[in-house]
Amino acid sequence: MSQLGLSQTSGVGLGRNMTDEEINKLMYTIGPKGVELPSGQGTAREGEKIYTQSCIFCHGPEGLNGPQNTLKGSPRLPMPTSLWDYIHRAMPRSLAIVGAQERQLSNDETYALTAYILYINGVIGHDEVMNAESLLKVDIPMEKKPID
Ligand code: HEC
Repeated sequence: MSQLGLSQTSGVGLGRNMTDEEINKLMYTIGPKGVELPSGQGTAREGEKIYTQSCIFCHGPEGLNGPQNTLKGSPRLPMPTSLWDYIHRAMPRSLAIVGAQERQLSNDETYALTAYILYINGVIGHDEVMNAESLLKVDIPMEKKPID
């Protein structure tokens, strides 16, 4: 760490610098090519159970008619790797603290939820296993792509 911010200068005696390991844990991003995708796997059938427990009250049954964004025709759909990244990074939101993440989903849960969102959008089947390889091969039909 060569660049120190004001808050990291010595003298205040509070806190400590984060280790590189801690920073990497927070900062890793799954790019569109998905090369950073971690190990793990899940199906839409598994994702449906997690969705019912952790997502349905904000996004509605099958991603429709909830108080928050509809997940049918989500603008992130054309890029399943970004969908994975977004879910893992930001969801589920907290009901209690606006904008906060309620808990960190595991890699398996994230694969399962990504599979479920692809499934409710008619892109993959209920039992298709999504993992670091298969997610890259998902073919988003042209008509499912959002119109600018
Ligand atoms: C407390 C409410 C809440 C819960 C619970 C919640 N979300 Fe969200 N979700 C939001 C909000 C609010 C947004 C929009 C955030 C924004 O646009 O900044 C969002 C956006 C999303 C998006 C992006 C939608 C888009 O337009 O591309 C996805 C995908 C998503 N959520 C999936 C999930 C999944 C999967 C779960 C369960 C693990 C979940 N959410 C739980 C509130 C919630």
